[in-house]
Amino acid sequence: MAFLILEVYRSFGRPLLPMKFRPYFSACVRRSLMFSLLAFAAHIAHGAAPSFNAGDWVRLNRSETLLFKGQNFMPAPKGQEFSVLKNDAAQQQVYVAYFKEDDSMVAVTLPAEALEVAPRDGWGELLRGMEAFRDQRADEARRGLAAAAQDPVFKNLGASLQARINGALAAASQASAGKPQSLVSMVPTLRDTAVQLDKMGYPSLALALEEGVDRLGKQVAGGGAIAPSKLDRGEIVKRVTASTRAVNRCRQAVALHKMVEAKRQLDEGLKAEPARPELKALQARVEKEIADAEDDLKAAERMRKFAGGTVHALTALERGLKRCVDDPRLKALKKEMESAFEERTSPQVTAAMIGGGAGKDVLEEGRKLYTTRCTECHDLELLDSRTMTKWEGVVGGMARRAHLDDVQRGKIIQYISAAQATLK
Ligand code: HEC
Repeated sequence: MAFLILEVYRSFGRPLLPMKFRPYFSACVRRSLMFSLLAFAAHIAHGAAPSFNAGDWVRLNRSETLLFKGQNFMPAPKGQEFSVLKNDAAQQQVYVAYFKEDDSMVAVTLPAEALEVAPRDGWGELLRGMEAFRDQRADEARRGLAAAAQDPVFKNLGASLQARINGALAAASQASAGKPQSLVSMVPTLRDTAVQLDKMGYPSLALALEEGVDRLGKQVAGGGAIAPSKLDRGEIVKRVTASTRAVNRCRQAVALHKMVEAKRQLDEGLKAEPARPELKALQARVEKEIADAEDDLKAAERMRKFAGGTVHALTALERGLKRCVDDPRLKALKKEMESAFEERTSPQVTAAMIGGGAGKDVLEEGRKLYTTRCTECHDLELLDSRTMTKWEGVVGGMARRAHLDDVQRGKIIQYISAAQATLK
């Protein structure tokens, strides 16, 4: 795949209706049958398109373009995950969070049909469960923590939080029936649990617990009667905000193969929340891609020195940039080798090419289309990166994205074919 600079997906106005129910079903297969049936009943009751809830994690089931205020904003590949801010059932679009370079968050939209609920792992259940407790959605809190208690990785933590939260919820319902004693006596233990969670490297769980306890306290005891927090809350809010932002920005960067940026986010996120599992999971992958890109760079630099090594150097360079588009040394080397690169991707039309059959005008026009229209979203690939049969397939597929007609497509293929045949 060529490395992406920008994917301008101008075909956005295509009809949406026939696909209306697809994401609903794809979301369903990933959930339990029970839940599917409930969701289906709700779906019929509301007569609405697939709906996601604020706080859900969703992922793209195809590559798409994020829209900001209706305008193209950023390409997003299949599989990228987002957290839902709001579901606009009437427009069948979903508002999701996007974190910009300056760390501000914007709400961007995606068509509902391109999204499915992201499968939740043990950590996802744990965090969502604790956030549900914070927001006083008791059933969801119980369900999330029960699922976490079954998870092979998080079962111990899950089970102990499950016991405490279930106890707190039971005490809260007694309190609302006029008997606050057991809730009041339980709060100091819950405050200690929050301190422990923070010590374990999970401030996001600690904060959700603290805020949930505050709310229960306000509700039943007029606020003053429960034990206060033992954590520096202002500081912990800062750290949780930073780690959540880092998770989002790291995912965004990985999706676009910006591994250097991803590494920066990882470092910042792990400083704020040292055990954050999403970051730990991304860490191994990011570090491997950076190390492999480093090897590609070394290979490219080595091969350049040999007579006839240029083409190998370019191949290594291209491979490295696919892994890691924002590696500054690879980018610098590419700039240095620009003319050699052009020679291997889009050479000028020569007499030898014309000798192959196609006329000069056709080839010139094919080259012009190729070097202008096919570079709108990414760089060109090496001519000998694939056979002519493969090129025909790729150009056929890409012509739709570049809005090229059959005649134009034919000219590009003729140019690629002639240029490839005369490649030294
Ligand atoms: C609107 C944006 C856009 C335009 C214009 C575009 N491409 Fe692409 N191209 C992409 C994207 C996105 C990918 C990434 C993978 C995918 O979705 O197939 C890609 C991937 C590729 C690949 C790698 C595919 C593979 O499977 O190895 C090649 C080669 C390629 N494009 C060639 C072209 C050519 C030739 C043209 C002009 C006819 C072109 N592209 C025009 C967006 C574009």
